[in-house]
Amino acid sequence: MRVLVVGSGGREHAIVHKLSKSSRVDEIFCTPGNGGISDIAECVPIKATDLAGVRQFAIEKSVDLVFVASDDPLALGMVDMFKKEGVRVFGPTRDASIIESSKVFSKNLMKKYGIPTASYETFDNPEEAIRHIMETDMPVAVKADGLALGKGAIMAHTREEAVAAVKSIMDDRQFGDSGNHIVIEEYMVGREVTVLAFTDGKTVVPMVSSQDHKRAFDNDEGLNTGGMGAISPSRIYDEELSGICMDSIFQPTVKAMADEGRQFKGVIYFELMITENGPKVIEYNARFGDPEAQVVLPLLKTDLLDIIDAIIDERLDRIEIEWFDRASACIVAASGGYPVDYKKGYEIEGLQDLEGTEDVFVYHAGTMKENGRYLTNGGRVLGVTATAENLDSALAKAYSSIEKIRFTDMHYRRDIGKK
Ligand SMILES: Nc1ncnc2c1ncn2[C@@H]1O[C@H](COP(=O)(O)OP(=O)(O)O)[C@@H](O)[C@H]1O
Ligand SMILES: [Mg+2]
Repeated sequence: MRVLVVGSGGREHAIVHKLSKSSRVDEIFCTPGNGGISDIAECVPIKATDLAGVRQFAIEKSVDLVFVASDDPLALGMVDMFKKEGVRVFGPTRDASIIESSKVFSKNLMKKYGIPTASYETFDNPEEAIRHIMETDMPVAVKADGLALGKGAIMAHTREEAVAAVKSIMDDRQFGDSGNHIVIEEYMVGREVTVLAFTDGKTVVPMVSSQDHKRAFDNDEGLNTGGMGAISPSRIYDEELSGICMDSIFQPTVKAMADEGRQFKGVIYFELMITENGPKVIEYNARFGDPEAQVVLPLLKTDLLDIIDAIIDERLDRIEIEWFDRASACIVAASGGYPVDYKKGYEIEGLQDLEGTEDVFVYHAGTMKENGRYLTNGGRVLGVTATAENLDSALAKAYSSIEKIRFTDMHYRRDIGKK
């Protein structure tokens, strides 16, 4: 069959790579894809947010399945569009992906259904928000309601910082309409874990746990980024915790969405804080995470396409999903200056030295291919990923691999997976 994957990052490379291993997949297209994806799929320069363009392409090529992998097209209703068109499609509808695209919605959902999360208030005008800040203990998290490229959540340690955050979101409209509403919430202390899960709207099957590293520099310093590296499984997520999360968070969330008439089908991402008082939800995403997909998918033993089919047909309870009993680590090679200001177009060298290295795979994020050469084309450039029998070996292998890669001003964290 012919599959179209919509998106262009390391996550999409990991998805395309996994799908390319399926015996039932004959041809893969990716809109728009990137330099690395173009080695294993036909990349077509149509933006993921160009709904009409993607639809026309999918129909032209009579694809059998569309996998909508990134957040923007989901929030724009790409899944709804293909459903209407009668094209088989994987991902949540617009009504369901609101669990990611509106933090006000997701916080209210958790409150209504008793799902543990940080206590919070929502505001639609800055004066009220500032009045609230003056009466609240610091620190707090100030968050724009809508999608903001992973930059819309500001941790404020003083009232001044909190007020500045409100002003930049609501008055300066730093994130545009995403800041029409804000959430101000209790600052939680604990360790973070990500659990991705497959769900068909009824059954929920968690994947192996993972941990992202959001800050740009070692020791969690610098600005928040899209993610500088990840490990799987998490070092702290054990059987007991997994049972608690299943009962208090995963199942209640999927059921709540169904009860709200927003049945969620696809991959749901639980970002969790493990606090003294148990696990609490930081936020939900409506799709695979990036770079979490790069560490979790290599550990998946079952054919991804079989899982996708079971989800679309709502029979996830009838298949068994298996994992390799291994660990994986992904180190992101970023452009110097990311996430603020960086140049593109540098040649990436050393990739061929890694070809054929066992259990090592370099996922491309912001790259393009020109005359057989790979060039940097984004802030996050590559996700150098390795799997091994345990986490420390996977990390060692990923680090020895990334050392072979060079491009001008390349930057990566040296402490992924250490904590
Ligand atoms: N209430 C909170 N307490 C402590 N840390 C938080 C809180 N909310 C968010 N964070 C931190 O900020 C990061 C980004 O917040 P999140 O809600 O996930 O927004 P985004 O949409 O930017 O991913 C989280 O990964 C977490 O590290
Ligand atoms: Mg997040």
